[in-house]
Amino acid sequence: MSNPSILILPGDGIGPEVMAEVRKVIDWYGAKRDLAFDVSEDLVGGAAYDKHGVPLADETMAKAQEVDAVLLGAVGGPKYDVLDFSVKPERGLLRLRKEMDLFANLRPAQCFDALADFSSLKKEVVAGLDIMIVRELTSGVYFGEPRGIFEEGNERVGINTQRYTESEIERAARAAFELAMKRNKKLCSMEKANVMESGILWREVVTRVGEEYPEVELSHMYADNGAMQLVRAPKQFDVIVTDNLFGDILSDCAAMLTGSLGMLPSASLGAPMANGRPKAMYEPVHGSAPDIAGQGKANPIACILSFAMALRYSFDQGDEATRLETAIEKVLADGVRTADLMGPEGGTPVSTSEMGDKIIEALDASL
Ligand code: NAD
Ligand code: IPM
Ligand code: MN
Repeated sequence: MSNPSILILPGDGIGPEVMAEVRKVIDWYGAKRDLAFDVSEDLVGGAAYDKHGVPLADETMAKAQEVDAVLLGAVGGPKYDVLDFSVKPERGLLRLRKEMDLFANLRPAQCFDALADFSSLKKEVVAGLDIMIVRELTSGVYFGEPRGIFEEGNERVGINTQRYTESEIERAARAAFELAMKRNKKLCSMEKANVMESGILWREVVTRVGEEYPEVELSHMYADNGAMQLVRAPKQFDVIVTDNLFGDILSDCAAMLTGSLGMLPSASLGAPMANGRPKAMYEPVHGSAPDIAGQGKANPIACILSFAMALRYSFDQGDEATRLETAIEKVLADGVRTADLMGPEGGTPVSTSEMGDKIIEALDASL
């Protein structure tokens, strides 16, 4: 049988820097765990625009549809701010999500013990935190029509449309309930049913799907209150399900509960393919971090944890995913820190590649 295939799209800014560390981990699994992958690499975002004039070439899109999993670094950067909206780096990422129909974006926020002291919140608020945000990823205001900037009288108007069909809400809700069943059987759905019709429908459909999961304790919260509760008492949550835009914002917020945006991985999952694996792309939650790009300062853990999610959700290697997560936990417990994880007490940060090397050492020690 051939090896499972992975398409790596490092992208822009710190994307290639953090992805280089993921490559070390992938190679380690081939060499030490007899778990070899057929890895190919291609361009996305600004890097693809520079070569092809578009942020995602059609051939790259076709490759992404064929592989068992895509790993993406990050896209975007100030150099591309002037581009026409249709060819901005972010459009490449959105095209991948939409055309692969990756409707369920799993964004787990876990606070490693070693970092509990480091969060901007009090240690007791975040210690032991383990929540999962399920963000709907292929619809909502990101894709709704009409959209655009139009002339209206003597001025312009910018329009985006929040739009959700029942089936779109239903499949995201089902993904969240299934996860809740495997976790602590608690699901909180967030929308703004107090001001948005799409929120009313969201609440209705989630409630209806919930009837199929009587063991799961379902609650509903307005998303603004949800943001506040995430900061006030995040451990009240187990799984959160929410729409595309609220999920984007709430997951960046949840990132800081873990100590740094450089810690948060994600899995974007779609329907099962013919081989039974879900269509999948794995990507850190953070962006291309232009302020630190090219300096060896980026934290590669979010991207490496995204590969751990690939091991778990695409390759049925839950034990190996746990091995990798445990290795990362050990490295952090040993006090190894990239610059984003330095507290006010200071210390000497390691570089992106030193962090990768330490994780490989911890993987070696796990054998
Ligand atoms: P960002 O996530 O790139 O950076 C926000 C802050 O977090 C910066 O201070 C950055 O230095 C820090 N940071 C992020 N990742 C880090 C890491 N791994 N290690 C250490 N520090 C890290 O968000 P932004 O500055 O708002 O956006 C920059 C560009 O990235 C924009 O073009 C944006 O559209 C794009 N973006 C892309 C993605 C993606 O590709 N998935 C996600 C978010 C933003
Ligand atoms: C994310 C990013 C993307 C989003 C952008 C870069 C398109 O912020 O993955 O969180 O808004 O979804
Ligand atoms: Mn975001």
